[in-house]
Amino acid sequence: AIDIAKLRGASGLITLDPGFKNTGSTKSAITFLDGEKGILRYRGYRIEDLAEKSTFLEVAYLLIYGELPTQEEYAKFSKDITHHTLVHEDIKKILDGFPSNAHPMGVLSSLICSLSAFYPESLNPNRDKESVNLSIIRLLAKMPTFAAWAYKNEVGHPVNYPDNSLDYCSNFLKMMFALPAERYEVDPVVAKALDQLLILHADHEQNCSTSTVRVVGSSQASIYASISAGINALWGPLHGGANQSVIEMLDAIKADGGDTKKFLDKAKDKDDPFRLMGFGHRVYKNFDPRAKIIKKAADDVLSKLGTNDPILDIAKELEYAALNDQYFVDRKLYPNVDFYSGIIYRALGIPTDMFTVMFALGRLPGWIAQWKEMRENGEPIGRPRQVYVGATERDYVTMNKR
Ligand code: ACO
Repeated sequence: AIDIAKLRGASGLITLDPGFKNTGSTKSAITFLDGEKGILRYRGYRIEDLAEKSTFLEVAYLLIYGELPTQEEYAKFSKDITHHTLVHEDIKKILDGFPSNAHPMGVLSSLICSLSAFYPESLNPNRDKESVNLSIIRLLAKMPTFAAWAYKNEVGHPVNYPDNSLDYCSNFLKMMFALPAERYEVDPVVAKALDQLLILHADHEQNCSTSTVRVVGSSQASIYASISAGINALWGPLHGGANQSVIEMLDAIKADGGDTKKFLDKAKDKDDPFRLMGFGHRVYKNFDPRAKIIKKAADDVLSKLGTNDPILDIAKELEYAALNDQYFVDRKLYPNVDFYSGIIYRALGIPTDMFTVMFALGRLPGWIAQWKEMRENGEPIGRPRQVYVGATERDYVTMNKR
């Protein structure tokens, strides 16, 4: 545990580090990342092994409680989550209040935050472990319901209630896609591919949204409010919103005739705000190991589903061109997790503006684990300093004299 006493009253020189590029905010035992070597491990387990051999709920348990679950622990964890998938009927009234063109990320963060109102015991910072754990289970259980409902709101279809006979991903897919007048069977290839994508997104140490969750939680705000803040941080195009931007960019390249070089040149032009979306990373200065797995999965999933999406070829061409371009080589810009994930989501039938919601579904256990670690460590409230560069002292001038 961190020795809070040693940190208290810190004063003197201030480190100015915009973007916190070299500032550690915490000690954490959850995720190990070596950006130079392209290594990612959850609780010591290699991401490659977890993506191949485990399930999303197993990984969620590992991140949150620190160990891979035994068979009994896994059965109880899955059963508890299944038991809480239903949401309070009044939350549907909140959903109904959103216009149909509301971005599903905004709907998701609002519905998650509303849980603080439906479970007000979550506002008590001193509640016992069991009560905190119930909130954790509720979050994992209800987030897929909210995510699917945010989509239903957008397309104007009636919402589907959870089907607790199904596994985590199959239940979500059924809530997303089933229509009242039609029979819907979950395709196991689709459910498996989704499960793997969620594993790959499950945690990534102190990124923007996770740091947000920890900072908001450090004020002892409720876990629901903290996770809702994380969803909002993830929404931006430089973070989780990049998966939506990548597909929009690849579609734009295709619509423009497929000239990847033209877009590569635009990305290098410092007078053009365009960036190659899905490229570059604050920490990885090598291949993002998740991007490698997702690139292979994109080939597998599309061929299993018999889908031919021309933007996969455009993406590969763009990647090849960038990796052989001095600008990208010099800056160590490689494809990140989002470069190929959207292509898989699209093949699974997920609409573009739901991509970041899918990322949030995957990142949820990481946010929870990080929130829990921060609270269990008794970390102080997050409160960075600044270097003031504004006006010095001034005399007040009344309005009629300005
Ligand atoms: N296209 C073109 N140039 C880029 C790109 C890009 N995608 N990314 C970085 N660069 C350039 C910058 O212009 C800068 O060049 P300069 O040294 O000549 O000024 C240099 O590479 C360093 O980039 P920074 O923006 O300083 O790096 P930072 O660590 O602040 O940003 C970020 C990282 C936000 C991921 C950036 O690479 C980016 O905008 N990428 C595109 C968006 C994206 O894919 N985001 C998803 C990230 S993964 C995630 O959040 C899940």
